[in-house]
Amino acid sequence: MINSLSLREKSIVFIGFMGVGKTTVAKLVAKKLYRDFVDIDQEIEKEYGMPTTEIFKQFGEESFREKEKEYVFHYSLQPLKVIALGGGAFIREDIRNICLENNIVFYLDISWESWKDRLHMLVDSRPILQNRSLDEIEKLFNERKNFYREHNSSLKTDNVSVEEVADYIIDSLKLAWELYS
Ligand code: S3P
Repeated sequence: MINSLSLREKSIVFIGFMGVGKTTVAKLVAKKLYRDFVDIDQEIEKEYGMPTTEIFKQFGEESFREKEKEYVFHYSLQPLKVIALGGGAFIREDIRNICLENNIVFYLDISWESWKDRLHMLVDSRPILQNRSLDEIEKLFNERKNFYREHNSSLKTDNVSVEEVADYIIDSLKLAWELYS
């Protein structure tokens, strides 16, 4: 399913591990570019009327993943959005393909060392992190990197402010728009 949007019109998609800052960065980039911001997790939570942890508990991960796919397919084909994906969405090949075919995919990368300091802030709201040891989470972190490797552009976010990340992304987008349109 490929649409024929120009590079300037294509929606921008943020991928990366849980808690790397996809939502915060996407929201800021959207604001700076005067585009609509979409957070796939928030869309799912709105539909179910409950937080992700509760959706996992009551309906199971599979239902969450199906909904996630529906929303990603819906929004990735629309123009001029800035979309934050949940960290597990890009594991699915169909989601990777639709995003890479139709969007500009930015990978927000972070080192394990920096990420693990954030764990305590994330665990309550991330069902995937619950009941796992630190070693298991590190394994998941490294496995997920293999999927995130497929992207159009990436940025290491260790010790970089959200504002700096957003400005770097906008500069690189503007350069690409000038060069290729
Ligand atoms: C998940 C990441 C979460 C959310 C859900 C599952 C994952 O999103 O979609 O808890 O499997 O990595 P964030 O990446 O925004 O935390």
